[in-house]
Amino acid sequence: MAQTSLFLVQKKRRPTCIFLSLILLIVIGAGCEKKNPSTEGEKVVGEILVGVAGPMTGDQSKIGGDVERGARIAVEEWNARGGIMGRMIRLEVGDDRHDPKEAVSVANKMVNLGIVGMVGHFNSSASIPASSVYHDAGIPMITPASTNPRLTEQGFKNVFRVVGRDDQQGKVAADFTFTQLKAKRVAVLHDKTTYGQGLADEFRKSLARFEGQGIEVVSFDGLTQGDKDFRGILTSLKEKNIDLYFFGGIFPEGGLLVKQAKEVGLNVPMMSGDGVIDPKFIEIAGEAAEGTYLTFMPDIEQLPNAAHFLKKYKEKFGEELAPYAIYAYDAANILLKAISEGNSTDSAKIIELMRKMKYDGALGHLEFDEKGDVTESPYIVWITRNGRFEAFWNPAE
Ligand code: ALA
Repeated sequence: MAQTSLFLVQKKRRPTCIFLSLILLIVIGAGCEKKNPSTEGEKVVGEILVGVAGPMTGDQSKIGGDVERGARIAVEEWNARGGIMGRMIRLEVGDDRHDPKEAVSVANKMVNLGIVGMVGHFNSSASIPASSVYHDAGIPMITPASTNPRLTEQGFKNVFRVVGRDDQQGKVAADFTFTQLKAKRVAVLHDKTTYGQGLADEFRKSLARFEGQGIEVVSFDGLTQGDKDFRGILTSLKEKNIDLYFFGGIFPEGGLLVKQAKEVGLNVPMMSGDGVIDPKFIEIAGEAAEGTYLTFMPDIEQLPNAAHFLKKYKEKFGEELAPYAIYAYDAANILLKAISEGNSTDSAKIIELMRKMKYDGALGHLEFDEKGDVTESPYIVWITRNGRFEAFWNPAE
């Protein structure tokens, strides 16, 4: 009975009805087509989404902003050349506030949005937990700044960095302390983060190579990131009769440390790492910043291929550049070049191309080893002089 009724209903349909229905289907279809112009495999083709993440708000926001601006210049240049595969690139910005949990939540959000790759994060304490999320999703991440060795020791094929590692910069800092400063009594401070404590450990380990040659680490202490008053610990260091204190950490605490050291009468230099090389450090510390040492890569102003980026950055943003902007620029370019070379947004293909890439960018020649580390990371020692950072000692010379 049911079959008969159905048959009858179908039989009753008039040709005009069928024609109108077909028109309706075509119109609806065309509407859908507008939203999804075409598909590439399973993925919808539209803008290519690329993520950039770091501490965009809070006390480290200056450096997060530098990273975003560096990546943005790269994206704008690719778009000005017509994008990739005829598609425009859009930068999705994530603020992890240098908090490990927030970094994981940013990473999940980025993966759900469908980013093709991540330029970030900045802090090792953010990059390491976030890297698991990108790894599970098979998405490439390339950090412009995270230096903790553990990041690339996890065996994740999707992880890259365009900077060196803390075992490398810790060694240069230790060599300088022993051979150039000839320090005898050294105190070590850190901010208890993955990066800060890790770098302090590497420095201490490396200094131990000179054991028995008149140099001694007299203390190893953690302070709390975000605190504003370090006079107590600095006063205790003064009583230890030290020649130098090393700080593993970032510029907000680094700036306060050197300022307050002078206030309590601790008149010995601070030595630190890449987390401190930001104009904000000098702004916070004021005149007390003079004579601070830190390890970082060679002077970008002297790099033959960096001039184009430096000019563009100053024209566009009109402010003094912090070095990590250029690292983000090259990191973003490596990711975008891999998408372009593979003519695809397929993550596995992009990762494979990044691993093989020999890239000549603003920083010079970059390529990766099997871990995703750059094959060359020539750390040097910098000093703060006349309110500026100056390249000071190159262990290779
Ligand atoms: N190099 C610093 C870190 O790894 C910025 O956190």
